[in-house]
Amino acid sequence: MAKYSTIRGMNDILPAEAEKWQYIEAKARKVFDEYGFSEIKTPILEKTSLFTRSIGEDTDIVEKEMYTFPDRKEELLSMRPEGTASVVRAYVQHKMYASSSFTKLYYFGPMFRYERPQKGRNRQFYQIGAEAIGVSSPAVDAEVISMLHTFFDQLGLDGLVVNINSIGCAGCRPAYKEKLLKFIAGSVDELCDNCQRRYEDNPLRVIDCKSKGCREKTIDAPSILDSLCGGCHDDFERLKDYLSDLNIPFNVNHRMVRGLDYYTKTAFEITSDNIGSQDAVAAGGRYDRLVEEIGGPPTPAVGFAIGVERLSMLLVEDDINLKRFPDLFIAALGDKAYNRAFRLAHDLRTREVKVEYDHEGKSLKAQMRRAGALGASYVLILGDAEIESGRAVLKDMNNHEQSDIAWEEIVPEMRVRMKG
Ligand code: HAM
Repeated sequence: MAKYSTIRGMNDILPAEAEKWQYIEAKARKVFDEYGFSEIKTPILEKTSLFTRSIGEDTDIVEKEMYTFPDRKEELLSMRPEGTASVVRAYVQHKMYASSSFTKLYYFGPMFRYERPQKGRNRQFYQIGAEAIGVSSPAVDAEVISMLHTFFDQLGLDGLVVNINSIGCAGCRPAYKEKLLKFIAGSVDELCDNCQRRYEDNPLRVIDCKSKGCREKTIDAPSILDSLCGGCHDDFERLKDYLSDLNIPFNVNHRMVRGLDYYTKTAFEITSDNIGSQDAVAAGGRYDRLVEEIGGPPTPAVGFAIGVERLSMLLVEDDINLKRFPDLFIAALGDKAYNRAFRLAHDLRTREVKVEYDHEGKSLKAQMRRAGALGASYVLILGDAEIESGRAVLKDMNNHEQSDIAWEEIVPEMRVRMKG
């Protein structure tokens, strides 16, 4: 056992995995840029009250999952459990609404939740999120779902399911809550402890509860979709039409409620059968009241976040060309050649050629083996004779052809070959 190791639920992302993440991030940046989103970076620490206010006092996240502590001046701070609250805080703080009526932002970064760790569930995890702030049309809901769809498609993923629901607005949800409370009233004792404790404040969470007992007891619960007001109903119908228009298959799941209180109308989750019980790869929804609640003008918004660990589990490395192999391996034999290799590697690297060489005085055979293992495209063989003659042997590792090359030609020749 190492003397020190990572904290439970928090993982090192080792180079092979980090390379996959770079690939994912580069694709996300490209796709999000095509949809007109710009990147925003916000701090990991925020005032705790930002999250209690936005995510909701009686949600799992705020009740028991936040990393919260007083700073040296006794101000209560939390490590962000998600990105939406921070992005909306930044939107309001910097009055972004003043310069544009429609603001599209995306972010990457670590989030922190004190959950019970398991496959696909960590205490520090990473999200790629996007928020479209300012427009209430369900076309924008469809657009952000389609952006996710395009992104997953470009990563070569299939077998993902888009689940959608509408959880209504401040106008129609209270009446549905009443209906649901009445329905639940007869079987409260049979619900799980969590649901028993909070069903009165948040009965919608009971129908979304994963415990078997709660599932069985609510199998015939009324559907929120039958209680939507005219506006919410029309918007949901339009969302479905827009998704159909874009050929994006979806499931309507009237039990999907989501664990954050800021949602209104559209809620969605993208799930996969291939990553275990924590099957939501991405999730989001509309939150038309949050900007105002955080102190901005009334502003509708919709967004999502992708779980990077879960997404990475779905990507098969063989399908993606991750590695940039060395362009050149310099096999140097002897001290003089080693010193030349040191200088040459610098000259080439500063001219955008990727170079490796040996620092351990290994034999030519061992160096050639290493060049092969690294997947170098070319090997330059340098020994005492080459130093004397001012020429060296350049070997093409694909067709095994060797050419004799003058010292001063190496940098320009490699640049030409790597471009071709
Ligand atoms: P969320 O459903 O809490 O929504 O998280 C979004 C995604 O983050 C999940 O679908 C999952 O892939 C990943 N995730 C969440 N918790 C964990 C965890 N403990 N370990 C690993 N992955 C996890 C939000 O966070 C909202 N802010 C999404 C949003 C943006 N809604 C509107 N805009």
